[in-house]
Order: sequence, then structure tokens, then C-alpha cells
Amino acid sequence: MSKSYSIAVIPGDGTGPEVIREGKKVLAAAASLHDFALDFIEFDLGGERYMRTGETLPPSVLEELKKVDAIYLGAIGHPGVAPGILEQGILLKLRFELDQYVNLRPVKLYPGVETPLKDKGPEHIDFLVVRENTEGFYVGAGGFFKKGTPDEVAVQESISTHKGVERLLRYAFEAARARGKNRKLTLCGKTNVLTYAWDLWRRVFSRLSREYPDVATDYAHVDAICMWMVKNPEWFDVIATDNMFGDIITDLGAMIQGGMGIAAGANINPQGVSMFEPIGGSAPKYTGADAINPLACILAGSLMLETLGETLGAKSIEQSVVHVIAHHLKRLEAGRMGHTTTQVGDLTAKYLV
Ligand code: IPM
Ligand code: MN
Repeated sequence: MSKSYSIAVIPGDGTGPEVIREGKKVLAAAASLHDFALDFIEFDLGGERYMRTGETLPPSVLEELKKVDAIYLGAIGHPGVAPGILEQGILLKLRFELDQYVNLRPVKLYPGVETPLKDKGPEHIDFLVVRENTEGFYVGAGGFFKKGTPDEVAVQESISTHKGVERLLRYAFEAARARGKNRKLTLCGKTNVLTYAWDLWRRVFSRLSREYPDVATDYAHVDAICMWMVKNPEWFDVIATDNMFGDIITDLGAMIQGGMGIAAGANINPQGVSMFEPIGGSAPKYTGADAINPLACILAGSLMLETLGETLGAKSIEQSVVHVIAHHLKRLEAGRMGHTTTQVGDLTAKYLV
């Protein structure tokens, strides 16, 4: 009997619903081709609901989300809602409450995609960023003193726990081993300035490295990593880093792989419910225009199938995306693909093998 998975779908804000619609189309086609079933359950979360009801992520909804096999998310962020409310109330809340402590962000240049890095091709740009996803600056530790006065002090603290660092780094070592590319893991930090956090990270990193003698290790400061991602991206196989640095370097990664239209990410809890999303935002400017590129969301769907163990389905989606880029799309930017959002989804579903 074929396997069946319950997938919570959160279309969210802006262009989220449009890219999710195409992602579901391609996932459903992959499911019927590879003989498994996906039971999509839609959840209305995002800016519209917040403006209507004042709710971000009600506790009862969170409980339902804890029961599914995976979560497929479009985008969270609404121009009518003050910054931080939806991000902290929905996106970060889900990552934290579901303990999705690994944020996986592959940076991969597909054939036929233009990168701003002239002279670099698919053989040079293919690495994986393993971003810590539940600690660091994102815990919201800190506070104000004398707020609103000329003597105001604002403190924002970054928290790294031994447990959090160890489980993230272990995941990254395993990922370097499993990718089997160069079997190289680079730690991205700032040991020369942030001397407490990165002392802990380095100690755990060197201790774990003895358990993985087949994985070569390397360390680089985050600023140098930014430089090398542009100058020598071929040096990287797997990069492990904390939450804040991971957020920053994966936007740079998205650009060198062709832009937000193609950049997918996974929020992983290896023992629990994981969540998959395009890493770009809700692109309010393109909402409803059938112009946004759905490939990042479609590739997030491929990451979801891979994590569920549907390797063939995952691979067939990625191969179809490669075909569609190489033979059908003019460019990857919204409105310049030479096709609508719907057509790109249709093409990707059509060329699945
Ligand atoms: C991301 C986003 C989020 C983050 C925001 C929306 C809170 O930029 O997924 O990278 O900073 O993690
Ligand atoms: Mn980001």
C-alpha cells in the first residue's frame, strides 16, 4: 500500500498563496507518479487574519500543527502590520515551538541560470548552509532601560547553549558526510570579537570533529565568508553557523544562485514536525499578479519530500525544475520569466519523470 502524509499548508501573505498553489500542483503530480499520497490541510494564518481577529498563531492551531507530518509555508509578512508582529508571532513561534533547530538552505546554481558571479558555473556553486534556528539573537533576550528618555539603553543578547550548539553541529557533520561531495564542513563565526559565543562553538566543533575523521573541517569569520561566497564559492561544501549569521549569509547565497525566485529552505526538527518554505518574503508588490516565480516554493516541496523519505519524488521535482529553467524560462525574476506563475507550475508538473 502506498504511504500517505498529512501536510499542513500555510499559504500566508502576499504572493505566498500563489506560490503554494503551484507547489501543491507539482507535489500532487509527483505523488501520483511515485505512488504516495499527500493529504493537504489548509491553515489560515497571516496578516489578513491578524487584522481581522488580532490573532497570530492561536494555541489550538499550534496543537493541530504538532500532529502533521510536515508543514508547507508560503510567506509571512504584511505591509499593513507593524514589523515583528507576524514574524515573531507566527514564523519564529513555529520554528521555536516545534523545535526546528536546523535551518537548511542549499545554495546551488542550476544549469542555464545567470549568476552575478561571471565565470562561475554549476560546478562552482553547490553548497549547503546549516543555520542554527532556535537560539542566538532570535530568542528575544534583552530589554530597555529608561526607554524613551535621552538616557535610554537597549540591550539585545545572543544566547548559545551547549546543547543547541552541539545538536546543530552534529547535524552539520552528518550532512557533510551524507552529501559525500568534498566532505568538508566550514564553521562560520566571529571568534575575534564575539569571544564568548564563538569560544563555545569552536570548542564543541573541535570535539565533534574527532568523531568525524572523514569530514575535513575549516573555520572562517562571517565577513570573510561573505567575501569568499562571491570570490570562491567552490571552496564550500557545508557551512554551519548561528541563527543571525545564517540569516545574513543565506540572503547572499540566494543572490549568487540566481535570486529569491529559486532559493528554498527547510526548518528541520529531526525527531518532530519540520517546515518548508521559500526563503524570500511575501513580495507584496506582486500579490495577485500571477508574476512571482514559484520555483523556490516548488523546490521547498522537493526538500519536504526528501525529508519525508520520498527520495524519488524529491529528485524528480528537482530534475523537472532544472529542465524548465534550461528550456523554458527567460529569466528567474518575477515578471520576467516569459511565463506566468501558473504556467511555470504547469510546466514543472508536466516535465516530472
Ligand atoms: C528568514 C527571514 C526570517 C528570519 C524573518 C522573516 C523573521 O528573514 O527566514 O530568513 O530572520 O529568520
Ligand atoms: Mn532571512
